Amino acid sequence: MTSTVQSPGSKRTASGADGPQLYGAQRSGRVTLHDLAAAKERGERWPMLTAYDAMTARLFDEVGIPVLLVGDSAANVVYGYENTIPITMDELVPLVAAVARSTEHALIVADMPFGSYQASPGQALAEAARFLKEGGAHAVKLEGGQRVLPQVEALVGAGIPVMGHLGLTPQSVNTLGGYRVQGRGGSGEILLRDAKALEAAGAFAVVLELVPADLAQRVTDALAIPTIGIGAGNGCDAQVNVWQDLVGLTPEPRPKFIRAYGDVRSIMADAVRAWSADVVSGQYPSGEQSYH
Ligand code: KIV
Repeated sequence: MTSTVQSPGSKRTASGADGPQLYGAQRSGRVTLHDLAAAKERGERWPMLTAYDAMTARLFDEVGIPVLLVGDSAANVVYGYENTIPITMDELVPLVAAVARSTEHALIVADMPFGSYQASPGQALAEAARFLKEGGAHAVKLEGGQRVLPQVEALVGAGIPVMGHLGLTPQSVNTLGGYRVQGRGGSGEILLRDAKALEAAGAFAVVLELVPADLAQRVTDALAIPTIGIGAGNGCDAQVNVWQDLVGLTPEPRPKFIRAYGDVRSIMADAVRAWSADVVSGQYPSGEQSYH
């Protein structure tokens, strides 16, 4: 653990073993890295959600989601790319800024896109700094283990909190040969070693994506920093979902690890159909929606 994230003028006082719960607490100011570490010590699980725009970020913040990730999944759900490889810093920075501006409590993590950090620690530092200076993010996430340790060390050394990401790392889809479960068999030991190395390099948390539940549990037990699972079973310290998946906006078929807690796709489609029909038939707007 290297630092805490504190918004300017923050009046937050409560954190640590006797502080409020991480999710659902009445809080003033931002969630800090210290809060996340304390939650792990207490054995308290917490939710992380993606956010890409002002209105949903504000809603998730009001609900009390302690960490919001402006994921490079914006490539798919915002920009309509086939995978996360094409998205750029210039496309992500405005989304990060919208999310940061619209929230008061959540820690905002910005996802470093493919090509923004692999070349060198210097490149990673310059691009991550953009997320903090132009976007108002509090931390960044990047994919990979051993091969990105110099980048993690450089960022943490410069005061930029880093979240790691192991298992299925979608930016490497061409190397991994598709979106499939990672860490089965002997490669599980490599993943465990990578997780420990990320912690030693100063990462404050690690996302584990599409890995067997027992391996995620081993990693969680082995690390002092929180693990955040997505398709990694129930043993992680936290869980992350792409919000469109969890509210049922993503079209079917959805991955096995998704549980849709709503049918927002149908609700929206019904509303749009009803409005369109009213427009066509002349029922909308009525006198009630007109100015006199
Ligand atoms: O980009 C993203 O949304 C992510 C999460 C799935 C962890 O990386």
